Amino acid sequence: MKLVLPKLPYDLDALEPTLSKHQVELHYKGHLKGYIDKLNQMPFVANASRMKLEEIILKGKHEHVDNRLGVLPPGEHPSTLYNISAQVYNYTFYFNSLTPKGGGNPEGDIGEIIDAQFGDWESFRKKLIAKGKNLFGSGWVWVVIDDEGEISIIKGLNAEVPFVYRLIPILCIDVWEHAYYVDYENRRGEYLRAVADNLLNWDFANKNLSHAG
Ligand SMILES: [Fe+2]
Repeated sequence: MKLVLPKLPYDLDALEPTLSKHQVELHYKGHLKGYIDKLNQMPFVANASRMKLEEIILKGKHEHVDNRLGVLPPGEHPSTLYNISAQVYNYTFYFNSLTPKGGGNPEGDIGEIIDAQFGDWESFRKKLIAKGKNLFGSGWVWVVIDDEGEISIIKGLNAEVPFVYRLIPILCIDVWEHAYYVDYENRRGEYLRAVADNLLNWDFANKNLSHAG
């Protein structure tokens, strides 16, 4: 099977001025395409017949790397198949979590749940930004919902993807440095504030909420 680069849901320059065309192009055509190319070269994927990306991720989660380097004990090191397939999922989710003229006060069901659980958008926004600023190293900030219907803001280190932990993803923000360094250099907090205020896609969040049932 062969995975194809998913279509970006807007033009490369549509997120300006929050994210420049150069920033988005490098991220989408450089990083995401790079992960898809690598995944397609992996024997498990190349030899598989049709398979969902989620199934590949779960297969990778249970496949431990060869421990010949002796750095980490088997079982604690995510496999390359997991890391790469999870990143394809995360990137795709991230680009769908953004939209031109998004952000700010949430609309629809997500707005009601945020108000009920966090008090108001401003309190939620502060927590979202703080979570991303405080993440040490590379990773993701996820808004997720659990099977009790409770919303949480969680950190995902490196390539971690919430659904393997039975948390349904609602939105995410990439806080790997390459996601913002072209436009914001080392000012991660500024990037997070700008995304929260100008780009978060509440329609996508509401769609994910409705699937969470
Ligand atoms: Fe990224």
